[in-house]
Amino acid sequence: MKRFTCHIQTADADETTALGRKLSLTLKPGDVLALYGDLAAGKTTLTRGLAEGFHANQPATSPTFTLINEYPGTVPLYHFDCYRIREAREILFLGFEEYLDMEGIVVVEWPQKVEAFLPEETIRIHLNTSDTDNNVRLITIDSPRELTIDTCC
Ligand SMILES: Nc1ncnc2c1ncn2[C@@H]1O[C@H](COP(=O)(O)OP(=O)(O)OP(=O)(O)O)[C@@H](O)[C@H]1O
Ligand SMILES: [Mg+2]
Repeated sequence: MKRFTCHIQTADADETTALGRKLSLTLKPGDVLALYGDLAAGKTTLTRGLAEGFHANQPATSPTFTLINEYPGTVPLYHFDCYRIREAREILFLGFEEYLDMEGIVVVEWPQKVEAFLPEETIRIHLNTSDTDNNVRLITIDSPRELTIDTCC
């Protein structure tokens, strides 16, 4: 399958949130986003921007303990955090496959834990902290369709 890649750099958390808002404009119901990156890479920060973009009913926070947060909005956002998952199939007990069918946006933090259950069309986003600046994030978006984000190069 052909994929489209773009690279974006953010200088602080606000820029990553803004990127999430911009990204929300180009997403479609049914999209699945896998957010890769170490602890504090900015996965939840990006999700907060997505939730703002969809006018969610509350700010997105880390679902580390609940494993999933749901944000109703112009398009519903389903935010999974798989950090504490030990076996991939645990995500099925959370109803992951049903969420995929719900025509919302599914966002997955720590997707490498559940790779086998991610659809082929998943939009994969990698966030890395710069070696030279603790606030800079190097973000790569790898998508099965071209996403028009105005900061994208
Ligand atoms: N450019 C940036 N983008 C995003 N966050 C940044 C940036 N610069 C600094 N930060 C800080 O890094 C932290 C990112 O936290 P966040 O909860 O988004 O990470 P996470 O990837 O979801 O981590 P976890 O794996 O623990 O869930 C925040 O404290 C934020 O203020
Ligand atoms: Mg997080």
